[in-house]
Amino acid sequence: LALACAGLCTAMPARATDAPDATALRETANTLFGAIPHSVDEVRGQEITAAQVELGKSLWFEPRLSRSHVLSCNSCHNIATGGADNVPTSIGHGWQKGPRNSPTVLNAVLNVAQFWDGRAADLKEQAKGPVQASVEMNNTPGRVEATLRSMPAYVEAFARAFPGEDQPVSFENMARALEAFETTLVTPDSRFDRFLAGKGSLDATELRGLSLFIDKGCVACHSGPNFGGQAYYPFGVVERPGADVLPSGDKGRFAVTQTASDEYVFRAAPLRNVALTAPYFHSGQVWDLGQAVAIMGSAQLGHELDATEVQSITRFLQTLTGRQPQVANPVLPPSTSTTPRPE
Ligand code: HEM
Ligand code: HEM
Repeated sequence: LALACAGLCTAMPARATDAPDATALRETANTLFGAIPHSVDEVRGQEITAAQVELGKSLWFEPRLSRSHVLSCNSCHNIATGGADNVPTSIGHGWQKGPRNSPTVLNAVLNVAQFWDGRAADLKEQAKGPVQASVEMNNTPGRVEATLRSMPAYVEAFARAFPGEDQPVSFENMARALEAFETTLVTPDSRFDRFLAGKGSLDATELRGLSLFIDKGCVACHSGPNFGGQAYYPFGVVERPGADVLPSGDKGRFAVTQTASDEYVFRAAPLRNVALTAPYFHSGQVWDLGQAVAIMGSAQLGHELDATEVQSITRFLQTLTGRQPQVANPVLPPSTSTTPRPE
């Protein structure tokens, strides 16, 4: 575990009374983090087309991707509420409670892999999961294809999005279109991004919070433009949190790799827009951002942050809220006589 911060940690003073030098801090922050891009134009080297994004937007809000015709992607990743559902663990098919908190989809395209345990390589692979998961949308690829093929407007939209293919309406292309839409869910121009670009300032408390975030070592795991989402670490490197926050039944990445050292290992959560996405952690058991920060201090760094430090870091994290995507509600095609009925 590389918990040192490449020699940069020592560059900034960390005492609460110090007023950090904004210019030096900006320079350091630019090397450690970086701005959220205004747009993402390709995935896996393939260009994303407007027709794919348009189709993906319809599918994102499409409740008929679920067996019940009740749940859409947006049910659990509401774009109006930070791309998450703001409940401890998601409610899916038949009011079943899932095992984990819903992570935000905002800026998810920037993560190295998807899910708390990184078990899906990218957004395309990820999108096939919830549609089939029995506690989420509880559907099957065949039933989804039958549903989409029953509506002429979808058949045309898939043909426009995936021209030249023999059978454009497929489960695979549903996933590709959803991924294309999700690449548009980036949130640039946060106050922090404006600070990085030299176009805006942070107040003294926020600067202190940024300085502490770097000096105390948070940055060792939460770095890059998305402030995390790039690598995996034990939750409880130094001190394992209580079973309320870290339930013993969810061993995280161990389920993916079957390697003993991956027990209770999770992807370092990306912290962009974190002020909008309570409750926190994969268990969704912590409602207060300050409390989540304090838990990170003791669990990951073996350091009891004092109240002022927690407050400064929390104030800083609030500057990571970016411009939220403006998405016009799509009008979805009506069901036809051949559309599978809700179950
Ligand atoms: C995870 C997209 C439907 C609940 C994710 C992630 C993405 C995503 C991109 C990973 C984000 C990250 O790791 O940073 C979608 C899409 C959906 C959909 C495209 C529609 C096809 C749903 C629904 C629910 C839900 C309906 C709730 C019933 C969750 C939960 C996780 C998750 C709990 C975390 C699961 C884990 O880490 O094991 N989703 N989602 N999603 N989503 Fe969805
Ligand atoms: C999760 C902040 C240090 C690894 C989180 C979350 C916050 C946070 C707010 C919850 C995000 C959410 O649920 O959406 C901080 C702060 C730190 C710090 C302020 C410094 C005081 C670290 C370090 C590591 C780390 C040093 C790695 C050794 C993780 C991991 C998660 C996480 C793995 C996901 C935990 C889970 O499974 O729920 N961090 N973090 N963090 N952080 Fe940190």
